[in-house]
Amino acid sequence: MNKHAIFEAMYARRSIRKFTDEPVDDVQIEEMLKAAMAAPSATNTQAWRFLVVQDAAKLDSIRKILPFGKINAPLAISVCADMSIFKRPVVSRFWVQDCSAATQNILLAAVGLGLGAVWCGVHPIPVIEPRIHKLLGLPANVKALNIIFIGHPAEEKEARTQYDAKKVFRDQYGVDW
Ligand SMILES: Cc1cc2nc3c(=O)[nH]c(=O)nc-3n(C[C@H](O)[C@H](O)[C@H](O)COP(=O)(O)O)c2cc1C
Repeated sequence: MNKHAIFEAMYARRSIRKFTDEPVDDVQIEEMLKAAMAAPSATNTQAWRFLVVQDAAKLDSIRKILPFGKINAPLAISVCADMSIFKRPVVSRFWVQDCSAATQNILLAAVGLGLGAVWCGVHPIPVIEPRIHKLLGLPANVKALNIIFIGHPAEEKEARTQYDAKKVFRDQYGVDW
């Protein structure tokens, strides 16, 4: 494991919102999905489901629905959860965390492939969720966490952490680290 490479990827991951028209090829899409499905999930349920959208009209409709997602990318992946496969209701409550872990892996995989990406929130926004649900043809047992727009970047952002020692405490909340 190359320590430097993993930190470099985490700091290089930035929200990219401007893209070229160049499509993302299927091999790269599959690589991102493999990374997504390497994520941890509560009791390893892996309820995540991934809807890959490349249809131009559908991408346009997504952009119309998302108030902060007017982003011209050639690809969107919606990270969803099949709520019907959870055996225990208490575990199903972790669907957001499971799908978020998968989402972060997609964002990092995009960095590794030289692509850019941005996570656009869907859940838990009541005015957006049902519209995305309908547009993507999700069955009643499936929830969408987000839309990740992905493409070849047409903007550059500096790598960075937002490390702030004031947000870290030692042994008891409020005690400086
Ligand atoms: C749950 C969540 C929802 C987000 N929704 C949007 C969104 O709707 N539109 C957007 O442009 N960015 C969205 N973002 C991206 C954030 O704005 C971005 O991560 C933040 O400004 C920090 O910038 P960075 O990603 O470049 O580090 C979202 C991020 C998260 C984690």
